[in-house]
Amino acid sequence: MITANYLVIGSGIAGLTFSVKIAEQFPDRNVVIITKSNEEESNTKYAQGGVAVVLDDEKDSFKKHIKDTLVAGDGLCNEEVVKMVIKEGPKRLEELMAWGANFDLDKSGNLDLGKEGGHSEYRVVHHKDITGYEIERALLKRVHQLPNISILPHHFAIDLVTNHHIKNSNQDELVCYGAYVFNQKSGEIFTVKANSTLLASGGIGCVYGHTTNPIIATGDGIAMAYRAKARIKDMEFVQFHPTALYEVEGESSFLISEAVRGFGAYLRNKKGYRFMPDYDKRAELASRDIVSQSIDSELKKSGDAHVYLDCTHLDMNAFKNHFPNIYNKCLQHHIDIKTDWIPVIPASHYLCGGIKVNKKGKTTIDNLFACGECTRTGLHGANRLASNSLLEALVYAHNIFKYHTKYEYKYLEVDIPEWNDEGTVIAKEHILIQHNLKRLQALMRDYVGIVRSNKRLKRAIKHLDLIHDEVEELYKESKITTSLCELRNMVNIAHLIVRQSLDRTENKGGYYNVDNVKK
Ligand code: FAD
Ligand code: SIN
Repeated sequence: MITANYLVIGSGIAGLTFSVKIAEQFPDRNVVIITKSNEEESNTKYAQGGVAVVLDDEKDSFKKHIKDTLVAGDGLCNEEVVKMVIKEGPKRLEELMAWGANFDLDKSGNLDLGKEGGHSEYRVVHHKDITGYEIERALLKRVHQLPNISILPHHFAIDLVTNHHIKNSNQDELVCYGAYVFNQKSGEIFTVKANSTLLASGGIGCVYGHTTNPIIATGDGIAMAYRAKARIKDMEFVQFHPTALYEVEGESSFLISEAVRGFGAYLRNKKGYRFMPDYDKRAELASRDIVSQSIDSELKKSGDAHVYLDCTHLDMNAFKNHFPNIYNKCLQHHIDIKTDWIPVIPASHYLCGGIKVNKKGKTTIDNLFACGECTRTGLHGANRLASNSLLEALVYAHNIFKYHTKYEYKYLEVDIPEWNDEGTVIAKEHILIQHNLKRLQALMRDYVGIVRSNKRLKRAIKHLDLIHDEVEELYKESKITTSLCELRNMVNIAHLIVRQSLDRTENKGGYYNVDNVKK
């Protein structure tokens, strides 16, 4: 067993920002970060467009950014949260820069500001088209400078420890005492007992086979919180990014940043027709839900596999300077952006819902906090505005830190039972995990995609129940493996998405059900 003042699950922007802040404030307290892959592997690492913050006092204002966020969220944002996050943005960005994150400058030496869908002004701070890579680099560097932080890569959190695990617990309220952790290299399972646990475990993209997210995005934190009986909300609002590179064999899909449309690129169908002005007066710069739904509608009409993003009319030197990674990635796929249109399709990208937290990042379980993409804060409502996610993580990591500076720690006098895997055996049929994963991803793609219907959602539940029973049986009789735990988590996530979709009777933002359309 390891004891920690602070257990942080996840090493993306949310987990690392909180860890740095708390470790700097309390050099005599220890922070343990566990993370299931290499320390830098995360959705954060792949963020392209940047961080949305109001810095230009002349043209832009907090008021405009707040309005854009509320419009994108389609009436379901918490306005108080929106105001708080946006007004805090500039301070949090300054801190990130003080820790060494570099962002591009314009010719006058000010931060260069990009534009993305749904934004009325240029306000997206970026590092070329690899903003997340730069943020992750800077945060990890700072983490390694702080001796009271230990970071354990290749360690997988299996489940939270709560009073349900404690014999004769006299707690009425749900309390979290840490987590059971699997050392993926040694196979050992041990307990991390903590005064405070932070879930910063990121998104769920992999529940859909076709996603912009890396393979770590399997919704583990949300599934753990759900099994521990925390409140989970707004799971129906899965955001599909309009422009993932179309690859015949691809699963984890390369993103063509929305900032490319902000730079002036057009969407065209196979006939070359620029269709977005027919759907929204903001054309290619409408918010993501609208652009993805419009592409879906074009593809259904034409039967084509993808649409195109046309950059051929743009200033290529400026393009290569701002988007070197996208330019080179396309070249690797034999697409020369100067002359060729880029084949693109929507792919699952971001979860607007998740673990319900208040403004201090508290979940509905005592001693359990959550931050970043795994949370539902109320900022995004029914659809997240582009580049508001990194911003949200920075602001909430700070709020959770502030709360912890005044938090009274009780020593947790509880005896946590060791992980018990008596009677389990090494799974002989690993193929069952792969088969069930493929079945799950296919059913989410076919029945729970951009456009849903009650019939398809109910069909999804039936199929999911079968997968669920098979996976639970496998889980009970097998020794722990990462892929088995991830599959179990993804089945939980899929259930939450489908159930909460069926509960929503009105179409909003990223949620569109044909049976909710008023006749
Ligand atoms: P992550 O960065 O995903 O980190 C989660 C961490 O938890 C990882 O380290 C993971 O390994 C770990 N973890 C998960 N489960 C477990 C477990 N069971 N045990 C141990 N560790 C675990 N947002 C913007 O605002 N601007 C952008 O430009 C932008 N571009 C994007 C481009 C792409 C391609 C993608 C995929 C996303 C983009 N986003 C963008 C969204 C944004 O990057 C993410 O929402 C944000 O980085 C999430 O940060 P996080 O710290 O919450 O989670
Ligand atoms: C992008 O660069 O298009 C992604 C931005 C985001 O998800 O906020």
